[in-house]
Amino acid sequence: MAVAGLPAVVARNDLPERVTICEVGPRDGLQNESAIVPVGVKLEFLDRLVAAGHRVVEATSFVHPKWVPQLADAEELLSALDRHPGVRYPVLVPNAKGLSRALAAGVDEIAIFGSATETFAQRNLNRSVAESIEMFAPVVATARDRGLRVRAYLSMCFGDPWEGPVPLRQVADAAVALMSLGCTELSLGDTIGVATPGQVRALLHAVSDAGVGLEQVAVHFHDTYGQALANTLAALESGISIVDASAGGLGGCPYAESATGNLATEDLVWQLDGLGIETGVDLGTLVETSVWMARQLGRPSPSRVVQALGG
Ligand code: HMG
Ligand code: MG
Repeated sequence: MAVAGLPAVVARNDLPERVTICEVGPRDGLQNESAIVPVGVKLEFLDRLVAAGHRVVEATSFVHPKWVPQLADAEELLSALDRHPGVRYPVLVPNAKGLSRALAAGVDEIAIFGSATETFAQRNLNRSVAESIEMFAPVVATARDRGLRVRAYLSMCFGDPWEGPVPLRQVADAAVALMSLGCTELSLGDTIGVATPGQVRALLHAVSDAGVGLEQVAVHFHDTYGQALANTLAALESGISIVDASAGGLGGCPYAESATGNLATEDLVWQLDGLGIETGVDLGTLVETSVWMARQLGRPSPSRVVQALGG
């Protein structure tokens, strides 16, 4: 399939030269599918994403299989995965049980996932915010002792479907609590896609003022209200150079009803290519991957770039 067009490149000197994309499609995308995707399809998806140039691909989650049955095949997936040198394959791990499963599967990078709000902490982790920090502490300590990288997700950073807008201070405090455990990276999540660019800038200032260096911070936008790309640009302008995205715009969270797909990686790469920002990801190969995946799932990709180029 030929790529019909590429954006004109007009660089801006106030933006990073390179952005690391954390591809979350195989985890955030597939955790939200109503049908269980066969492990062989997941493996081909992972391989195709790497072939497109991704160097960080979130592979799966070691959560309770009853909570997320879509990812209950984590062990089978990792044992069959052909791990390419130079590619990072982080996995989600909420607790000690998840960590022991992940270590037995030979992972070298994990992600814990906290919440800025009490309601989502209860719904997603069956614990309060404070209890979830207690649950994460030994996980991070053991993982760091073993030399693993540990990303900390923080969900509901901009708005929560049960609690409404989330105060900046509350988010910054939760961010500091997670990073104080010894995490190596923080990903700020707009789980339900309600953020707008001014709010993104304000939160990044607040997190930075609270002592978290923005070189360690990623942004994780869902695109429910069509703001994900605008929010990404605001984040890049604020000094962010790690962006989470999901091939084809797959995604959501089964424990936050109003969460729809993530920022589509193709839409992100189109913007970054146009800004002359290096990502290492080839747009044409990625579009082909999402067209293939959409066929497996039996419905078209919501990504505008996949729709424009993938026909
Ligand atoms: P719980 O029921 O409180 O667990 O769930 P527990 O600690 O009371 O243990 C109960 C039983 O579960 C025990 O078994 C454990 O061994 C077992 P028993 O002794 O009764 O036979 N168990 C496990 N089994 C397998 N793997 C495990 C595990 N843990 C306990 N890891 C728990 C607590 C955290 C496990 C549960 O709430 C859970 O799995 N939650 C995960 C929910 C989830 O994955 N949500 C989606 C990811 S977050 C997201 O999408 C947002 C993000 O994208 C960012 C954004 O958009 O904002 C990251
Ligand atoms: Mg998410």
